[in-house]
Amino acid sequence: MGFNFFYIMIKKSRIMSYHKPKTMCSSFRILIFFLIFSIASSHEFHPLDPLSPSELSQVQTIIQKSHQNVSFHYVGLDEPKKPVVLSWQLNRKHNKKISHRLAFVIVRTDAKTHEIIVDLSDSLIVSDKGYNGSGYPLLTSEEQTAANELPLTYAPFIASVQKRGLNVSEVICSSFTVGWYGEKRTKRVLKVMCYYIDGAVNFYMRPIEGITTTVDLDEMKITGYHDRLMVPVPKADGTDYRESMQNRPFDTRLKGMTVFQPDGPSFTIDGHTVRWANWEFHLAFDMRAGPIISLASIYDPEKDERRSVMYRAYLSELFVPYMDLTEEWYYRTFLDAGEFGIGLCANPLKPLRDCPENAVFMDGYFTMQDGKPEKISNVFCLFERYAGDILWRHTEPALPGDTITEVRQETSLVVRMVSTVGNYDYIIDWEFKQTGTIKVTIGLSGLLAIKGSVYTHNDQINEELYAQLLAENTLAVHHDHFLSFHLDLDVDGDANSFIKTKLKPVRVNKKDVPRKSYWRTVNHMAKTESDAKIKLGLGASEFLVVNPNKKTKVGNYIGYRLIPESVSSPLLSDDDFEQIRGGFTKYNMWVTPYKKSEKWAGGLLVDQGHGDDTLAKWTLRNREIENKDIVLWYTLGFHHVPYQEDFPVMPTLSSGFELWPTNFFEHNPVLKVKVPKQVKWPNCTK
Ligand SMILES: *[C@@H]1O[C@H](CO)[C@@H](O)[C@H](O)[C@H]1NC(C)=O
Ligand SMILES: *[C@@H]1O[C@H](CO)[C@@H](O)[C@H](O)[C@H]1NC(C)=O
Ligand SMILES: *[C@@H]1O[C@H](CO)[C@@H](O)[C@H](O)[C@H]1NC(C)=O
Repeated sequence: MGFNFFYIMIKKSRIMSYHKPKTMCSSFRILIFFLIFSIASSHEFHPLDPLSPSELSQVQTIIQKSHQNVSFHYVGLDEPKKPVVLSWQLNRKHNKKISHRLAFVIVRTDAKTHEIIVDLSDSLIVSDKGYNGSGYPLLTSEEQTAANELPLTYAPFIASVQKRGLNVSEVICSSFTVGWYGEKRTKRVLKVMCYYIDGAVNFYMRPIEGITTTVDLDEMKITGYHDRLMVPVPKADGTDYRESMQNRPFDTRLKGMTVFQPDGPSFTIDGHTVRWANWEFHLAFDMRAGPIISLASIYDPEKDERRSVMYRAYLSELFVPYMDLTEEWYYRTFLDAGEFGIGLCANPLKPLRDCPENAVFMDGYFTMQDGKPEKISNVFCLFERYAGDILWRHTEPALPGDTITEVRQETSLVVRMVSTVGNYDYIIDWEFKQTGTIKVTIGLSGLLAIKGSVYTHNDQINEELYAQLLAENTLAVHHDHFLSFHLDLDVDGDANSFIKTKLKPVRVNKKDVPRKSYWRTVNHMAKTESDAKIKLGLGASEFLVVNPNKKTKVGNYIGYRLIPESVSSPLLSDDDFEQIRGGFTKYNMWVTPYKKSEKWAGGLLVDQGHGDDTLAKWTLRNREIENKDIVLWYTLGFHHVPYQEDFPVMPTLSSGFELWPTNFFEHNPVLKVKVPKQVKWPNCTK
């Protein structure tokens, strides 16, 4: 959802300490981990590798030489131009080095935003643009921490807390971005909301409602304060989600289970390049996007060649508008990727809990406000998933003689990251299948955003509350989660087209045919961006990215299709301010011609932005997209009406989409997949 509770504190707090479970068998997993990473450390840079800690330090040194009092809001790889990367890949065997490593940096200095490109190979600043548009960059964890502490020493706030009969030492605060509602604003501000701990840990369930505190971030002081009304703080009873704090009886009926690969995993990690089954792809961590998958290609044994599928894909923006119009809530319409950073909010994954026994972990690095690199250990895990599912099967009893039954089991490779953006936890899975399918699943868990209320029963309520009553004095506010994915498919080459195949019902009126109806397919190849804006849910369709220059032997275009799981579309008005900023939600699919700078569906600088640099705006140019290097954007949505089962912590609710090979192969690509050999269990004592 929307607010980052201070990162540093969470990492160090006693509430969340990370235990590495030690069992006889897990030492084996750790051994594999070291084997893989000792190979990785001696590796040459891939042009898409994220900046290393020493490169991040170099960026800090170079920028601090020319700017004083600078705070770093984003540092990431400025990736080489696409043709450079593709030709590097083609000549990879010759071990050609990329001539220049560039960093893209957003800093604030003298209350101004600068977009800077640093050449790490020559140690110099290539360009430095002062930005004077409407938006502001990612918030740093440090400035949120500083802002969160301000109310605790602010006399009017202390008076408000005391007036409510509460103890200031038991108050904890959290930062909220403020959006934009048509006003002229020239200051970087945040709103800070506070909660009552008083022995509880699930403070998000215990808001101190009715108070709005505004903080000017450049001056780091409170510039607005309004105590509007007194509302009871919801009780702590029943809010604790820690195992150690649950009352007996526990449900202990399930027996232990594990996934164990005595021969080690079937994938390798070479630097940031992952190889598994017929797949190869590059995996990078970015402090804004989190995981970035690049250069995904699949080996086709029939053609004896590696065929490109996807150049670069990542979660581009995450829009979470709440539906409460009151003074303390109306502005809560977050753009989490651009305001808080999906990568910046990522957690170290907990072995055996976040990821199974057979998982291998990777670290990620980001830049702190002062420019120093910081590590997030175990930011990704990779594991082979075997969940007892069937890859394909058939039983044939109709033949003379014995019945034939052929079954293959399904194993896939999962890349996982978890981002905890304040109260919400987003579980992001990129799953690669032997069929050539890429499946993306987003799981929502964590804590709801709770509003305090006088009500203790639905029968008392006779007003618009914008929320559901989940416990006494506890309202969970209605909201949405919209995720926009940047999917730069390069299906067998970068010149691609987008085809919408409509399944058109046909009415039959023929004397000699007993049927009255059927459906047929009608293809439409999109010529321009406006041809490819798709709202799902209106009739049945297929959505293909094809290579119009390549066909299968029988003459079908070689392609991939997107199979959406979610059809949610925005329910807000087009002219509403937050909907202008989150305009990429208007359609579930968009197609744009590839442009390196068009990365972020909600814009590059989104905090308080006016929505003038969004996917919705870029596509107004209505550029040509036929037989061009194109990018497919998919918006996945959840309308979240909270229910009591979401309290005090939400069981994971998932949705996603799949990219399927579609006349990409000449026939079923997993016909020759052999069943892996039977696992022999070693002498495990525990
Ligand atoms: C840097 O910032 C600090 C605190 O905001 C201020 O006191 C100092 O004068 C600034 N220095 C320069 C060189 O701008
Ligand atoms: C922003 O900067 C550009 C180029 O530096 C300039 O043309 C424009 O007038 C500026 N806009 C504002 C609002 O200052
Ligand atoms: C307030 O909380 C602090 C810290 O938890 C505690 O030491 C103190 O006794 C409390 N004061 C009152 C008046 O309850």
